[in-house]
Amino acid sequence: MSGLTLPARAKINLYLDILKRRPDGYHELLTLFERLDLADEVTVEPVSGREVAFACDSPEVPRDASNLAVRAARAYLKASGWRTGLKIRLVKRIPAAAGMGGGSSDAAAVLTALQRLAPRPLPEKALLACARGLGADVPFFVSGVPFAWGRGRGDEIEPLDLPVTLWHVWARPDCDISTPEVYRACAEPGGGPSLRPPGAGAQLLLRALEALDLPGIRGGLFNALESVVEERYPVVREVKTVVEKAVGPLSRPLLSGSGSSVFAVCGSRAQAEAAAERVRAARPGWRAGAAATGR
Ligand code: C5P
Repeated sequence: MSGLTLPARAKINLYLDILKRRPDGYHELLTLFERLDLADEVTVEPVSGREVAFACDSPEVPRDASNLAVRAARAYLKASGWRTGLKIRLVKRIPAAAGMGGGSSDAAAVLTALQRLAPRPLPEKALLACARGLGADVPFFVSGVPFAWGRGRGDEIEPLDLPVTLWHVWARPDCDISTPEVYRACAEPGGGPSLRPPGAGAQLLLRALEALDLPGIRGGLFNALESVVEERYPVVREVKTVVEKAVGPLSRPLLSGSGSSVFAVCGSRAQAEAAAERVRAARPGWRAGAAATGR
């Protein structure tokens, strides 16, 4: 049987509010996901035997049991009862540990590919359960939509019909950030959840997106994890300064997810590409690029 190659796109969070801490250790979120056209490439090929083999062009990706693509494959085979070996190949372009969902998106692409290749695909509900078990961001990527609200752990997805294509510059400093550590710090007194009425800011942002009102969109971007991350990883403040300089005043760069990458909304592809070039020239050790909404 031949393999299937799918793009595994990145995401940013245009809005991320923490509503409360849950008994399971996770946090209740209200987040607005945007899928980007920046993507890894995942190939899944059924082979004889029962082994799941993994190859990747980047040394950043773990080869051990923490590899989400392999975990996704094993979870799918177990849930579906499909007895097969698999070869997974990953071409990595999304920066790792950057808050851009790279690992989760790879896992979602493996699930989606297996769902197309399997002799007896999983019922929708079982596929979603598989996705949820792998991580809070995985259901968004499995949903296959460019914009969505995420509620609960961020894994209850409500697709948003937003016929807009945005352009962004993103930048990732030479700094890995641990997501559990950031969320743990958020639960500490003083580090804490936002006191704004939940949803009010999110609705304003949604109106600005619908009207393609660039200052409104920039003003509505919000991430409750940002202050905690800036305090612990001061380089993130520097990234915001460098990105703001590269795009222009009032461009209001924001941390994506738990970081360490920062993005800004640009007025055009040309502005995003020029800004990315300026960031790379200013900080050659960082990664930066232009990306549009992944439609
Ligand atoms: O689900 P995922 O493995 O991506 O989450 C990584 C960590 O981030 C979790 O173990 C948890 O500590 C934290 N987290 C959280 N609340 C969320 C999402 C993630 O506390 N809604």
